Amino acid sequence: MDKRKIIIDCDPGHDDAVAIMMAASAPNLELIGITVEAGNQTLEKTGRNALNMVQYLNLDIPVALGANHPLKREPQTCAEIHGESGLDGFTFPPLKISFDKRDAVTLLKDLLLANDKVTLVPTGPLTNIALLLQKHPEVKSHIEEIVLMGGSIGYGNVSPAAEFNILCDPEAAEVVFESGLTVKMMGLDVTRRVLLYPEILERMNKIGNKVSDLFYALMKTFNANQKKIFGHEGAPLHDPATIVYLINPNVITLKKMNVEIDVSGGPSYGRTNCDQFDYLHRPHNAYVAIDIDVDEYWNVIEKGLKAFSN
Ligand code: RIB
Ligand code: CA
Repeated sequence: MDKRKIIIDCDPGHDDAVAIMMAASAPNLELIGITVEAGNQTLEKTGRNALNMVQYLNLDIPVALGANHPLKREPQTCAEIHGESGLDGFTFPPLKISFDKRDAVTLLKDLLLANDKVTLVPTGPLTNIALLLQKHPEVKSHIEEIVLMGGSIGYGNVSPAAEFNILCDPEAAEVVFESGLTVKMMGLDVTRRVLLYPEILERMNKIGNKVSDLFYALMKTFNANQKKIFGHEGAPLHDPATIVYLINPNVITLKKMNVEIDVSGGPSYGRTNCDQFDYLHRPHNAYVAIDIDVDEYWNVIEKGLKAFSN
């Protein structure tokens, strides 16, 4: 069966790095490119981290740098969780590969026009995707769907109302959610249930290949930082929920509903207002994750890491 072609648009970021690992080993997915934006750290750092992941996983795919600031609001990073480098916890070998000469929007446009159908997988702020849709609307017919990590039905994680990826660039999120494309939102409601408890870390560490070793080293740091900030025993492994869904859609339950992005600039700026009971009778413009099979999630992660043993 033909593999589903995907492009990951990310801000690595510890959980972005695991999403790349899972995409690289998924039997039904073909990762054809990675685009990067600022988010968890500055673009210089998220870009370097993406290159390090591609080199470490020995992937032969283009990596292009994109937006280093949001469409309208001021930039913000998340060094307290991802560290000064944006991917603290592992020393990668010296970089021998370099970025694609094209910027992220141009690479996205070229890859989309060269393929009939491509799934976009944003795991960071949506600036690159919004700019792509604004500058090259002709690519829309080549986008199978957008499966993103971001938002929440419930409360936020960087403000009472908003999740980080959406709050980093609410105006960009509004462009994506109002695009008319199929948008599937893996929000905090499900990603906060897949927590990297010590027993999960030890289970993955037993796999004993170079990628599971990288996973273990990065996740120990990710956990330690999250424990300092939130007091959690296990950090939520947010971004791979996108790839796990694409590998096995049964792991995550979606419900179609209206999602409106708060771009008011007030205390709820960046909130994804998810009308799950259709109070407002507005167009259902997104599929929102409302449940997750936690055991199966970790089974897919474990299988993805084991696939690097062969
Ligand atoms: O809120 C979680 C999201 O913000 C994840 O994508 C994480 O990598 C950070 O970017
Ligand atoms: Ca991310």
